[in-house]
Amino acid sequence: MTLKTVEWKENSVVMIDQTKLPNILEYVTYTDYNQVAEAIRTLVVRGAPAIGVSGAFGLALASLQSNAKEKGELINYLENAKKILFETRPTAVNLSWGLDKIMQIAKNAENVDEIRKSVVDAAKKMADEDIKINMTMGKNGSELFNDNDTIMTHCNAGALATVGYGTALGVIRAAKDSGKNIKVIATETRPVQQGSRLTAFELKHDGIDVSLISDTAVGYTMANGLVNGVIVGADRILRAGHVFNKIGTYQVATMAKQHNIPFYVAAPLSTFDLQSKPDDIIIEQRKASEVTGVGDKKTAPDGIDVINPAFDITPPELISAIITENGVAKPPFQESIKELFAAN
Ligand code: MRU
Repeated sequence: MTLKTVEWKENSVVMIDQTKLPNILEYVTYTDYNQVAEAIRTLVVRGAPAIGVSGAFGLALASLQSNAKEKGELINYLENAKKILFETRPTAVNLSWGLDKIMQIAKNAENVDEIRKSVVDAAKKMADEDIKINMTMGKNGSELFNDNDTIMTHCNAGALATVGYGTALGVIRAAKDSGKNIKVIATETRPVQQGSRLTAFELKHDGIDVSLISDTAVGYTMANGLVNGVIVGADRILRAGHVFNKIGTYQVATMAKQHNIPFYVAAPLSTFDLQSKPDDIIIEQRKASEVTGVGDKKTAPDGIDVINPAFDITPPELISAIITENGVAKPPFQESIKELFAAN
């Protein structure tokens, strides 16, 4: 069984505190939606699908916290909670997707009791479906890899970035489960080190062969024939195939193109934003201390100016295919993405 990142248990939200990994596997329990918002902001929980479900659970908690007696009063309370949860992180579209879905369910209910029940049930269902979707996506993508392939991944798009199983790492799990011998190369993923702290941890936890490299060794490993393919997750995918993902993804994709190595993206349909254009999207800028130190150790001079974007954009021409639960989209993405949604 892979790790369960976030779960609803006895009217509370239980999640792995990812800031403590890989040294301590600790679960935190929240009964207040403000705690969930803070957990999203501080990366206790992170990864696009995981924060989408966490946002939904946050609204479910809010519905239980409010002592509203009238539907209108409870809806106002939930709108305020939604705003607080939404403002935590701007780039992953799954967060607003999860919040909007739950809000709509609340508005469709007749009275406060029905709102509370339907919101909690819907958030729990969203969490269960996340795992099912990842397993289907895994099967769809596993065909793209061969026996004895070594696959590079960047950041963490695994069980820890979802409710369970993972998107990019779900494809790797499914390829392995189909009998293929697959090895993984995980990039460290500075500055917050989701690759070394989380991907390396969860693959080792599940007995999957993984080697860790520094981000600066991507070119070396590709140039030396050590990589057969790359697979990453996504925080947002636009209709022409622009992929917003962890900072550094664009560099990895460019290097893969240079070495004729296929570059794949795995993401559920909830990660697609068919309305926006690349310039509409806010790239989250995070605090300087993530760059001026490693963990608690300071590695840069005091007062240094820092640029610390959390995400970058990989353009469609660098992407070989996008794997979803509805199938695999190949270029030209404008057409193939439309077809994925038509099949929905
Ligand atoms: O800042 P993070 O750790 O939330 O960034 C996560 C990523 O960029 C993941 O690759 C993305 O959310 C896909 S997760 C299945």
